[in-house]
Amino acid sequence: MEEKLELLDNFVHLARIALSDRKQDVQVFLHRIVKRSTTDPKLAKELMKLLRDNPTFSSPLRRGFKTVIPADTDTRFQLLRIEERPHLPTKPVYTGKVQSALNRLVEERKNTEILMKAGLEPTRTILFTGPPGVGKTLSAQWMARQLNLPLMILDLSAVMSSYLGRTGTNLRYVLDYAKSENCILLLDELDAIAKRRDDAGEIGELKRLVTVLLQQLDDWPSSGLLIAATNHSDLLDPAVWRRFEQLIEFDLPDAERVKVYLDYLFEEFAPDMKIWTKVLAVAMAGRSYSDIERDLNLARREAALKGLSLAKFLTNLIVPNQMSKKEKINIAVQLVGKKLATQRKAHEITGVSRETIRTYLKNYDDTNKRI
Ligand SMILES: Nc1ncnc2c1ncn2[C@@H]1O[C@H](COP(=O)(O)OP(=O)(O)OP(=O)(O)O)[C@@H](O)[C@H]1O
Ligand SMILES: [Mg+2]
Repeated sequence: MEEKLELLDNFVHLARIALSDRKQDVQVFLHRIVKRSTTDPKLAKELMKLLRDNPTFSSPLRRGFKTVIPADTDTRFQLLRIEERPHLPTKPVYTGKVQSALNRLVEERKNTEILMKAGLEPTRTILFTGPPGVGKTLSAQWMARQLNLPLMILDLSAVMSSYLGRTGTNLRYVLDYAKSENCILLLDELDAIAKRRDDAGEIGELKRLVTVLLQQLDDWPSSGLLIAATNHSDLLDPAVWRRFEQLIEFDLPDAERVKVYLDYLFEEFAPDMKIWTKVLAVAMAGRSYSDIERDLNLARREAALKGLSLAKFLTNLIVPNQMSKKEKINIAVQLVGKKLATQRKAHEITGVSRETIRTYLKNYDDTNKRI
């Protein structure tokens, strides 16, 4: 009887923690039941199997790492975000130069023994620079996937808490922790340290912070990889950025890269719209990948809500006042040449006169015939 009551209690407790989405607590509780279930080996066996199929405590506090993840001593906010196996939202698109630099870094890590034999170490510290939305964070995730390592992300703008006095302690704590784990550490928004410099009252504290960082950069062990990202490398103390062993500059994509990116995106949700990618690539060149994705999603939502073809909204992505005359003509001709729009519509979208379109269209037709 008593046993039955206990079973009921356990059941209710389990339901409560499961419904409040506390997976880690559910796992702990099940482990406890398994240990206690001497009278019911079948139940214990079943539960063991379930726990095995849902491995490790997924809460970062209890994950496979040796120690507890650093948190701010007062707020208890976790200072690090850990991506065990980073999810790549899309396949990254790179210039040949960036791609080969990244490939080499991965190669180095995969062949440390060869390097060691030659008395060398793999690159330990890397600085990613470039405007927002061009793939700095994405590339750190990509590296982690290539190397099968967890990615620890420290957002410095978050760590630069209003209590600046604690930032040095927090930073040292996080860096020491990351050093002790086999992982990639991403120091995101590195310029957050530099940005606060204008406030005269805080200069002393910031200097100390930069000193902590410099020491750590020099001492970073070759077993770990530290990547820092910034979109204001000019704001960084030259002493800081000189310390990095490798600099990689990301830039806004040209039409060629935008086309590759759009081809990936369209492949996923509307392969029949791929005919548009060349025109859109010319129209959207020079904008960040994240802006392009956002605008495309906007068009998709509008099309879905109105129940119309996406093609009707893709023309909204062409904003002629940001383009040179040559680009406008190129787009107008492509629109008509590919039969994506009538001459009148192409004129409306780009502002290029129908007469000019006709003139250039002749060349376009000739070129395509030649091909
Ligand atoms: N090179 C790229 N190739 C493909 N997609 C990209 C690329 N860069 C950015 N994106 C898209 O834009 C999103 C945002 O990119 P990411 O977070 O890497 O930007 P960031 O350079 O770190 O910007 P920020 O300086 O704002 O942190 C990515 O999740 C991805 O969808
Ligand atoms: Mg980023």
